[in-house]
Amino acid sequence: MRRNRTPYSGQGFRPGRRALAVGTVLVAAFLAAATAIGMALPAQAATSLRSLAETKGRYFGTEMTGGDLGNGSLTGVAAAQFDMLTPGNEMKWDTTERSPGVFNFGPGDQIVSFAQAHGMRVRGHNLVWHSQLPSWVSNLPLNQVQSAMQNHITTEANHYRGKIYAWDVINEPFNEDGTLRQDIFDRAMGSGYLGIALRAARAADPAAKLYINDFNIEGVNAKSNALFSLAQSLLAQGAPLDGIGLESHFIVGQVPSSLLTNMQRFANLGLDVAVTELDDRIPLPASSNNIQQQGTDYGTVVNDCLMVARCVGVSQWGVDDGHSWIDGTFPGFGAATMYDRNFQPKPAYNASAAALGGGSSTPPPGTTSLVSAASGRCLDVPQSNTTNGTQPVIWDCHGSANQQWAVSGLTLRVLGKCLDAPPNAAAGTKVQIWDCNGGTNQQWNLNASGTISGVQSGLCLDVNGNATANGTTVILWTCTGAANQRWTRG
Ligand code: XIL
Repeated sequence: MRRNRTPYSGQGFRPGRRALAVGTVLVAAFLAAATAIGMALPAQAATSLRSLAETKGRYFGTEMTGGDLGNGSLTGVAAAQFDMLTPGNEMKWDTTERSPGVFNFGPGDQIVSFAQAHGMRVRGHNLVWHSQLPSWVSNLPLNQVQSAMQNHITTEANHYRGKIYAWDVINEPFNEDGTLRQDIFDRAMGSGYLGIALRAARAADPAAKLYINDFNIEGVNAKSNALFSLAQSLLAQGAPLDGIGLESHFIVGQVPSSLLTNMQRFANLGLDVAVTELDDRIPLPASSNNIQQQGTDYGTVVNDCLMVARCVGVSQWGVDDGHSWIDGTFPGFGAATMYDRNFQPKPAYNASAAALGGGSSTPPPGTTSLVSAASGRCLDVPQSNTTNGTQPVIWDCHGSANQQWAVSGLTLRVLGKCLDAPPNAAAGTKVQIWDCNGGTNQQWNLNASGTISGVQSGLCLDVNGNATANGTTVILWTCTGAANQRWTRG
């Protein structure tokens, strides 16, 4: 269902001569075999938004629909880059309670499961909204609306209790001029419905942060002024309001200059603020100037959030340009996200990463991913954790730096560390990353068959138990040449 609305706005070691010669031959053979199978390496992010945001005490989120769960490229990027997930439609009233008292949480549960499987938290979206609201609610006699609303909130928030970081309890309550929308809730209860809704949500899920979420409230204007007054009065009444969601559906070049000031004034009330639905639409066909400007815009938004201690995080609405709501809702506009339709990061990605203190967006030259033949998944350093002893796993390939391995002599280097077999490694020992030290336990033969064998142990890198799931560790095992011991350049 679409809505028409006013536009929203180096530590090298020196191998002996013999090792060098053998290594060169083996590497050449490996690369030749790999190139035969290989694909061009796309330009990829050097690290993840989620890990960068976490170093700043923030999250970086995205939005996905149930349909998106079937797209491996999309889910790969989502899990790798984002640590907060908002369901696009699956928790809205028209999905969760299409008929009075008949609840369907299946679609929302799927989104929550995906999030939990990938270490992402969830923003619940949403409980009370004039849109995507079944007609049975809008047609209720006014004296039945409050109980229907309370029952809806109680049942849904109770179902998801403990699984939701924050709920958009009330979505988009304001008109552009700052008056409250005359929706069924306002007509039935007046402005009191907001406090009633918040209290019902708090009772059902005391741990969730409770938000009012709206668009065109990012800058200081009539609408955000009205929301500010409302927030003050709700707090004065003791209503359980914890945060303000700034949707942030921007038009390229039009991020309000008062964004920072506006976020700070809400924060000064003791409220959290969050950028909940960021996108930045561009008139199509998108010019390269506008794609660059979009980068500037994203950088501004992320920087502003970092400037406000109570700005808890930024979420983009959708993962990539091919799965954004913009094209269908704002004809003539598109290219609104950080990823293009091929899931390649755009300048907006680089700007966001840079604002979070990240470096280059392209992998270091000469690096490659190592793809396990059994699963198609990539050798990956969990969470880009560079602590000595971190054990690589297999994970969906996404090309970020924690999956980019440099073949340097006989070493395999990642994130400035070396792939390393612990002392006295035997069949079954998990490999790890460690400071590069030139030891033979850090030397690997890249065999033409695709196996990778340890120079010291003679054992092969082996996906533990022949499992294929994300997170499976990689051990040393007697070389068999089976698929779980063969690796190709991705
Ligand atoms: C959008 C979804 O992305 C679309 O799939 C759906 O057709 C309409 O709603 N503000 C909100 C979100 O709070 O719920 C909206 O999501 C986008 C605008």
